[in-house]
Amino acid sequence: MSEGMMSVAYIGATILFILALGGLSRQDTAIRGNYFGMTGMFLALVATISGVVTANYFILIAGLGIGGGAGLVLARRVEMTAMPELIAILHSLVGLAAVLVGFANFLDHGNSLIGAEKSIHDVETYLGILIGALTFSGSIVAYLKLSAKLSGKPLLLPGRHFFNLGLLLASIGLCVLFVSQSAAGGGSLPLILMTIIALVFGVHMVMAIGGADMPVVVSMLNSYSGWAAAATGFMLNNDLLIVVGALVGSSGAILSFIMCRAMNRKFLAVIAGGFGTSSGTAGTGSVGDVGDVQAVQANEVAEMLLGAKEVMIIPGYGMAVAQAQHTVYEITRKLRDKNINVRFGIHPVAGRMPGHMNVLLAEAKVPYDIVFELDEINGDFPNVDVSIVIGANDIVNPAAEEEPDSPIAGMPVLQCWKGKTSVVLKRSMATGYAGVDNPLFYKENSRMLFGDARDTLEEVLKNLN
Ligand code: TAP
Repeated sequence: MSEGMMSVAYIGATILFILALGGLSRQDTAIRGNYFGMTGMFLALVATISGVVTANYFILIAGLGIGGGAGLVLARRVEMTAMPELIAILHSLVGLAAVLVGFANFLDHGNSLIGAEKSIHDVETYLGILIGALTFSGSIVAYLKLSAKLSGKPLLLPGRHFFNLGLLLASIGLCVLFVSQSAAGGGSLPLILMTIIALVFGVHMVMAIGGADMPVVVSMLNSYSGWAAAATGFMLNNDLLIVVGALVGSSGAILSFIMCRAMNRKFLAVIAGGFGTSSGTAGTGSVGDVGDVQAVQANEVAEMLLGAKEVMIIPGYGMAVAQAQHTVYEITRKLRDKNINVRFGIHPVAGRMPGHMNVLLAEAKVPYDIVFELDEINGDFPNVDVSIVIGANDIVNPAAEEEPDSPIAGMPVLQCWKGKTSVVLKRSMATGYAGVDNPLFYKENSRMLFGDARDTLEEVLKNLN
């Protein structure tokens, strides 16, 4: 492919990626957005392979086959609830690729440049490896935490901020050393030392994050993986990689910022770690500790619903686990047929990935116009007769507002306890992801419907019929 054709293909792919991002920002255009993204990536691959690659086709095709095959199998097998883990591990691969390309670039090409050009190239290589290494190790720890192979509890080393500052200063010093040594044909030692430091920093950064703040970290690592790809683009002189990396990097950063705002967290404070750390109330997690909660049966819930005018449904992670979204929609239809106003309240971090609940509700064909974000709906709870909390816990925990010492203090939550009655559907008294006890369950106007959410909702539906 000629250089001109390649530029045209790259511009076409860039436009498709921008359309993909635009499409993904709304539920009703999200599928189209995905198609734009896939077409853009296909175009980018074809243009790069036919325009840049001139030899080693066998290795390339074998790599594509192995990588593409593994990706296909993993993506087909993964459960919806395990999506965040998959995303975290994929980010780690982007980071690893940036490190490997950086070292290959340093060993292979860097020495043919001279003067300022070489110094600039060296700094690009250095930054690419640094961002890549911390994305790699941080994403692996995020994967281990999200899949519960590592405890979600934050690891708080004494003087951790000084430790981080030390690592940052050491990285800057090693960069200066690397650029000066590289000009004389060396530089591998500072580069290797910095890689080790970046790997340690990545581990420490994510280890220090508390459970409820993991969503912000996942989107931050997403952003880092974009910047790592952009740095790789600079190393390889590939404009498309620079643009795409910058798109991923900046959209990930914007998402992290939005999430921080939604969670009432300061972005820098989350990066420095330590949220979700205060003593708070430890989770008991046992069905034996039900205390004075008021348990109800499915038929009673059906009666409450039939007597209500305003119903709010609050889905959480448990709805995804139980795959109860279709039954939820059946119940919604039944109630709407009886002129009962049913709305859905969605918390920005409900479930285990951004937009998790929206995806499930869209899959069950719940109309978009009855699905509301937290800030659109939170003021309406005093007018709500019955709130049905389906497998949600942290996102409806009043401790976030009422207990300044709680690990989730300050996080906005759906204030269902301000309505007439809340019915919480879950299997036991276990805590949610943040591991914090939930005073909602013990409130005067709360009722607990114990059991798998799908089974209990099927029962409710039967009783509505
Ligand atoms: P959680 O606080 O995790 O609570 C989910 C509840 O669902 C649990 O208490 C569990 O109680 C119940 N449950 C599980 N399986 C169930 C089933 N089959 N039937 C009925 N109930 C079931 O979920 P949430 O309220 O959605 O809050 C999300 C949490 O995850 C937040 O802390 C958030 O920060 C974190 N997080 C979010 C993301 C993103 S991006 N959304 C990513 C990582 C972490 P039982 O075991 O008693 O049934």
